[in-house]
Amino acid sequence: MSEPLPWTDENRMLAERTRDDWDGAAQAWSHWEPHIAAFLWPVTQRLLEAAEIQPGQYVLDAGCGMGDPALAVAMRVGPGGRVLAIDPAQRMIDTARRRAGAMDLDNVEFRAAWVDDLPPPAKPFDAVVGRFSFIFCPDVRAALRRVRGMMRPGARLAMSAWTPMENSPGFLVINEMLRKHVVMPAVDATQPGMHHLSGPGMLSAALSEAGFRDVRTSPVRIYQFARNGAEFWRMSFEMSASLKKVLLRLPEAARTAIGEEIARRVDGDERFHQDGVLRIPVLAQVGSGCA
Ligand SMILES: C[S@@+](CC[C@H](N)C(=O)[O-])C[C@H]1O[C@@H](n2cnc3c(N)ncnc32)[C@H](O)[C@@H]1O
Repeated sequence: MSEPLPWTDENRMLAERTRDDWDGAAQAWSHWEPHIAAFLWPVTQRLLEAAEIQPGQYVLDAGCGMGDPALAVAMRVGPGGRVLAIDPAQRMIDTARRRAGAMDLDNVEFRAAWVDDLPPPAKPFDAVVGRFSFIFCPDVRAALRRVRGMMRPGARLAMSAWTPMENSPGFLVINEMLRKHVVMPAVDATQPGMHHLSGPGMLSAALSEAGFRDVRTSPVRIYQFARNGAEFWRMSFEMSASLKKVLLRLPEAARTAIGEEIARRVDGDERFHQDGVLRIPVLAQVGSGCA
């Protein structure tokens, strides 16, 4: 078993800032729960397949937010299995506990913790999953390496990341519009954050460099559901910790104008309209490896 990572001051500060951002987004995530569930369920499905989750297993969900994919994993491992679901954002964990309670799931333990310095478990994990969470670790390779040391040999870890923004027209519209009005750092797939590891080959490289074998990646085509452009914008803005931070620095009138422009662009884009609702394509990816 590996020892806890010594945090550098810089990484500790980054991790604390990230935790506070997600804590601040927890209420919005609860509000948008049905939309998030509709948006991300195929990623959950792929994670469970890629991590080869089976009944009876002991599984870690690293960065579970308000409970995903921990709840799906808890159902799959069944009463003979167990899930440890961790996230540094306490308010996300509080929601996750309430959701598990509402589903009568008692085989999942939620804990406020970073994956980066998680103490080794009493028994090794049979599988590890992380849905858009490892990408926020200050040092993703170190975190993955450490978790690999807590897994039974042959166990699989599966994690998701986004792909280059060009594959996701909704993300692109928001990014283009924001760039017109706000000075923003360039999207950098090498840095912790939403787009971390989104560049070609980056996810598999990170897993291999962390010591995982038999590394596989696959694209997952999903769509963001919204009733109209205004709803799409409201959801995107409220759910994204980083977007919120940039926009809250602007006067309210400017923010409203940007939101209205994005909503108009989305409403006017025929590609997104189906059955009287919007289905805006996004391309995610799932990578997995064997400990
Ligand atoms: C985009 S949300 C995804 C949440 C959830 N997995 C889902 O898919 O709905 C990212 C989550 O990663 C968590 N996170 C950020 N840094 C982390 C770290 N170092 N260790 C564990 N979780 C972290 C955040 O607190 C946040 O809840």
